[in-house]
Amino acid sequence: MTELVDYRGKRVVVSGCFSGMGEATARILLDLGAEVHGFDYKDCALPLASFTRVDLRDEQSIDNAVGGLSGSFDALFNCAGLPGNMDLMDVMKVNYLAVRKVTMAMVPKLKDGSGVASISSTAGNGWMMRLATHLELAATPDFTSGLKWCEDNVDQIYECYSFGKEALIVWTMREASHLIRKGIRLNCILPGPTQTPMMPEFEKQAPKSLLEATTQPINRFATPEEQARPLIFLNSPAASYINGVALQVDGGFTGGATTGQLDMSQIAAGMGGETELQL
Ligand SMILES: NC(=O)c1ccc[n+]([C@@H]2O[C@H](COP(=O)([O-])OP(=O)(O)OC[C@H]3O[C@@H](n4cnc5c(N)ncnc54)[C@H](O)[C@@H]3O)[C@@H](O)[C@H]2O)c1
Repeated sequence: MTELVDYRGKRVVVSGCFSGMGEATARILLDLGAEVHGFDYKDCALPLASFTRVDLRDEQSIDNAVGGLSGSFDALFNCAGLPGNMDLMDVMKVNYLAVRKVTMAMVPKLKDGSGVASISSTAGNGWMMRLATHLELAATPDFTSGLKWCEDNVDQIYECYSFGKEALIVWTMREASHLIRKGIRLNCILPGPTQTPMMPEFEKQAPKSLLEATTQPINRFATPEEQARPLIFLNSPAASYINGVALQVDGGFTGGATTGQLDMSQIAAGMGGETELQL
């Protein structure tokens, strides 16, 4: 198993390496012997092979960052994100449009047999209910046209956090069927509540009882490392036949909720009678 997740000498890019799951991912990859190149808009303290300051809200900044990387790469980890109480379009840019943009800009630099793993959320669990809308957005060819779609459909994206996370799942499933023809696998994880610097922002938006209800049935938050390790697995040879997957990393919440095993009353009350998740 150690050999299957062997990252010695592998060249990887981690976007969002300053804190939380991205920092944990970059740190573990360094421990595993990878050559780690980081992107963030805040300086990263880890001993990376290179760090590039990038503002993922800005297309030109992304082009400059990816353009500044030389050579070919084995893996891309899209870990950056913003909580839902930020500017609507900034959330759509960082959580969705930039993930698409960084991935597609990296494609010419990614080797045959490489992987891309991104972070969605249990908040994206409702993607099936508006699949047609998400497919329409996923079909926009680039950052600019995707942003125009968002601006023209503000009524659809007002719950920007869950909408963006749903959109990322659908885009991952759709694009994975194309990128695999270039030998690149594309997957994402759907974390449950995780103790990162983003958590206080979620706590401002939701009562404690609601957040606690979303930790059922494991009854604790994840650590950033518990999200980093599945990302690292997905981009390793151990996952060589896993493609287009949205992997739940939520301690059993989605499975329990789907099969009616959890107390959803706090969640329904917290969401005004609906059961949409915001983490
Ligand atoms: N914490 C949770 O409970 C939780 C649950 C589900 C999903 N997520 C998702 O996990 C991902 C990682 O978040 P986290 O919890 O580790 O939080 P975090 O705030 O610690 O990490 C987010 C990272 O993104 C970077 N970032 C934000 N905006 C940026 C920009 N414009 N340009 C460049 N970098 C930018 C930040 O500097 C930071 O390093 C996010 O996509 C988040 O939505 C978090």
